[in-house]
Amino acid sequence: MNHKEVIESVRKQFQTDSDPFPKTNDEIEALRNKYLGRKGIIADLFAKMNDIEAGSRPEFGKELNLLKNDISNSFSNYVTTTKNNPIQEIDHSLPGWIYNTGHLHPLQITLNEIKTIFTNLGFSVAYGPEIDDDFHNFSALNFPPEHPARDMQDTFFIENDIVMRTHTSNVQVHLMEEQEPPLRYIVPGRVFRNESISFKSYCLFHQIEGLYVDKNVSFAEHKGVLEYFVRQMFGVNTKMRFRPSFFPFTEPSAEVDIWSEKRGQWLEIMGSGMVDPEVFRSVKIDSEVWNGYAFGMGVERICMLKYDIDDIRLLYQGDLRFLEQF
Ligand code: DAH
Repeated sequence: MNHKEVIESVRKQFQTDSDPFPKTNDEIEALRNKYLGRKGIIADLFAKMNDIEAGSRPEFGKELNLLKNDISNSFSNYVTTTKNNPIQEIDHSLPGWIYNTGHLHPLQITLNEIKTIFTNLGFSVAYGPEIDDDFHNFSALNFPPEHPARDMQDTFFIENDIVMRTHTSNVQVHLMEEQEPPLRYIVPGRVFRNESISFKSYCLFHQIEGLYVDKNVSFAEHKGVLEYFVRQMFGVNTKMRFRPSFFPFTEPSAEVDIWSEKRGQWLEIMGSGMVDPEVFRSVKIDSEVWNGYAFGMGVERICMLKYDIDDIRLLYQGDLRFLEQF
């Protein structure tokens, strides 16, 4: 065979091998290797150049390059045509893409749950200012002038009379100033305390305040609502108790504890009580006609008890190893 015949025979051979064109990636790669690989037929022919009579070498080289290009093109053509044909392009055996979808933060999950429980009972959701004056955060809630909660150590002061609210109870006052009873609200929001940061306290946290004002509201009704809340939130068999306590803005006052079997102890989950007549007086509501109850709980605390989290800071660090567990 002269060099022209050799090249023609390889061209024919490739035509046979590539008709039909192989389907799978492995088969295509095998075909490419056979002709264009480092030890393929074309490379082999280039290696034989030296055996060819010097006069024919340029001609042979030219022909061989043409053949190489033609073969390369038939691979790239195949890829382009199948690219336009999406059905052949899908390899059903490939693993799928995993798209990371975000999810709710544990505090948001807890907050949503609490909101649902109370809105199902007919409470509406209200919000109020995070920066407020002394009157709404303290005085109207019957905090005496020398009360330690006003102390620099607990409260972030913006100005002499303006504070970062230390609790969501300030919104009780706004609601009662702005609206006529009956009132039935829960108030979620951020609160701020100038405390040193540790596993159990953070300078910022969340509370939900509850306020119910109507005629002839009884303490029994108040207990019933909170009992319902606890059973919904922590399970129907949760043991709970109302423990006598004191808050300036409620009388009588009680703290609600739930029993933790795991820790073998009572755990406080919220403060509550009947709205003190002094509070009604500050907002000019006639306490001879109206009465009611209020309660307040920390969302972090509820969340930590429910999900058995032992360090409040975990809720603020954005660590995915923690967050992805919810
Ligand atoms: N404001 C209280 C606190 O931050 C919580 C609280 C207790 C709110 C009793 C209330 C209540 O409405 O009745 O600790």
